[in-house]
Amino acid sequence: MVPRYGPAEVIEVRDDWPEPDLPGPGEVLVVVQAAGLNPSDAKIRAGGGRLGGVEPPYVSGREAAGQVVEVGPGVDSLEPGQEVFAFFGWGARPGGHTERLVVAASALALSPLGVPVNEAAGLPLAGLTALQGLEALGASGGERVLVTSGSGGVGHLGVQIAVALGLEVIATSGPANLGFVRGLGAAEVLDYRDEDHRRRLRGIPYLLDSVGAGNIGSYLSCLSTGAKVAAVAGVPSEVPDGITVTPIRCEASSARLTRLSQLMTERRLSVTVQQVFPLEQAAEAHRLLEGGHVRGKLVIAIGA
Ligand SMILES: NC(=O)c1ccc[n+]([C@@H]2O[C@H](COP(=O)([O-])OP(=O)(O)OC[C@H]3O[C@@H](n4cnc5c(N)ncnc54)[C@H](OP(=O)(O)O)[C@@H]3O)[C@@H](O)[C@H]2O)c1
Repeated sequence: MVPRYGPAEVIEVRDDWPEPDLPGPGEVLVVVQAAGLNPSDAKIRAGGGRLGGVEPPYVSGREAAGQVVEVGPGVDSLEPGQEVFAFFGWGARPGGHTERLVVAASALALSPLGVPVNEAAGLPLAGLTALQGLEALGASGGERVLVTSGSGGVGHLGVQIAVALGLEVIATSGPANLGFVRGLGAAEVLDYRDEDHRRRLRGIPYLLDSVGAGNIGSYLSCLSTGAKVAAVAGVPSEVPDGITVTPIRCEASSARLTRLSQLMTERRLSVTVQQVFPLEQAAEAHRLLEGGHVRGKLVIAIGA
């Protein structure tokens, strides 16, 4: 748990945290097996409470995978024992990095079949964000989409979801991840550290960016007139006429999560987990994430 805003060192592992209430109407009690870690967890912990609408002390984590223990009144679609995963939403009670929690059924979906729980746990927040971004772009039928940060949490799922949607994906990544991102199905992967790589990009109609406003700004000259941009990590202050930038903020959605779960079950989408940390090493996981060079996702195993 996070007792106060600050560096990763403030994180404490406590066994005296209050047990969650029984699930109320529309809610589900879940025993958590694994929970993804996301940049927002570190940003909120560092003092960005506004991001998540939480004040310390709180339990970190906005997504989790586990098993249904009990359902509240009005929840007819789930039953005890089922494997589920969720992104809880920003205003909801946080706390994926804990053993038991109550989640709104509207934020849950059945976990993908035959997929290890650590991989399922890394999907919800980044996967929903990538899917929402691609929906906002509205590309279809073989159109080209540029996915920046093809190796990141959002980006590596964005590449695969775009491919599953039938799009032609051009991605960027660092030199060590070029092969990894090609393996996700990108038709072309360009090294973002090569200053000249933008010259090879002309007339791009769609951009899914999860790096930041400055990064979007650096690709504006590569976009076609009428291009659409889904901005996951910030919107540039100035955008030329004719280019539409849509800010993306991940929304809890059982329906979208079910779609992603299906893609995982069909092996058309996978989560790359760079490292699984026991809960006791959550601070170390935060530090690694804050380094900004994770491939795919980091996951906290609960009760392992
Ligand atoms: N709006 C929302 O609801 C929402 C949801 C999810 C995430 N986000 C935000 O989106 C951002 C990304 O999140 P994430 O989970 O995807 O992050 P992440 O996994 O931590 O991103 C790290 C990855 O980004 C790559 N990278 C860094 N700079 C790059 C660049 N200039 N071009 C291409 N790749 C680059 C790194 O590759 P190298 O190691 O090669 O540098 C690394 O693989 C964060 O700011 C996060 O807070 C927002």
